[in-house]
Amino acid sequence: MEANTKTIKSLAVLCSGGDSPGMNSAVRSVVRTAIGLGIDVYGIYKGYSGLLEGNIQKLNLSSVGNIIQRGGTILDTSRCLEFHTPEIRQEAAHILARKHIDALIVIGGNGSFTGAMTLHQEHDIPVIGIPGTIDNDISGTEYTIGFNTAVQTAVNAVDNIRDTASAHARTFLVEVMGRKSSFIALQVGICTGAEHVVLSNQAVDYEKIVNGINKGTERGKTSSIIIVAEGEKAGLSYEIKDTLMTQYNLSVHACILGHIQRGGSPTALDRLIASKMGYAAVQGLNQGLHCHVTAFNKGEIEMVPLSACMEGKNESTEAQLELIRALAI
Ligand code: F6P
Repeated sequence: MEANTKTIKSLAVLCSGGDSPGMNSAVRSVVRTAIGLGIDVYGIYKGYSGLLEGNIQKLNLSSVGNIIQRGGTILDTSRCLEFHTPEIRQEAAHILARKHIDALIVIGGNGSFTGAMTLHQEHDIPVIGIPGTIDNDISGTEYTIGFNTAVQTAVNAVDNIRDTASAHARTFLVEVMGRKSSFIALQVGICTGAEHVVLSNQAVDYEKIVNGINKGTERGKTSSIIIVAEGEKAGLSYEIKDTLMTQYNLSVHACILGHIQRGGSPTALDRLIASKMGYAAVQGLNQGLHCHVTAFNKGEIEMVPLSACMEGKNESTEAQLELIRALAI
């Protein structure tokens, strides 16, 4: 694995893009590991936007006390479109140099990793990415921090909806987050015994949905739950609801779970993986790695080149869909 020979005396950590539960656990791990190694550590507030504003503060051991269990991120976050511009990245590199910050750890998704990669390529700043997004959609890693908590939150919500759906003998469309990926939808579908899952990358198969609902009703089911992956923008479940009502004469309710899935205390799994990734990120920088991601593969954390983690992940949906079909019989 290619390594840099420069010694890291200081590093900064930022969170970027949509927050995800477990980001705080990762920040805590980065800060404590760095201090343990004698490396000065800075927090950049509000992601790349905060970097450009010089919103940077030195952190100490107690800066990250009592945060392992907290959702959101104590560093705040942002989606910074300006960072796509080379001149803006140059300004960011100057700010880091002026603060004598040798390296950067970025906790976020693909967009945030693209920013880190270009900053490294253009200005030779060592960067390590920690995958943090509820969508679990980053190539090169089987897991991203926050996914497990988001799925659990959605499962709890769907269980509640199932109670009322069954009391009234209703069908509910429940829309979950994930943008273009359907990972959350599929796991939530399996874990809630959903009758059907609408994937984000496929046309809605109305015949299948309607046949499923009718078959269930015939065999005495008192409710149906259809999980909808949101796709490019939220609201698809309302379109499906309208079509089912107007073209199939079915009475259905729609519920968009939305940002409730992004908040809340991280599960033990998210705290565990975030703690391991934060530790690995600092150790990696200290050992001279300079453009890598703390990936989680086959149960272990491994350092994967950042270039392998810039794409959306290929989804193998068929096995999970087959399971949902088999169990919703
Ligand atoms: O990428 C995380 C995510 O929560 C997606 O699942 C969702 O589509 C998007 O962010 C929502 O973004 P925002 O909070 O900026 O509306």
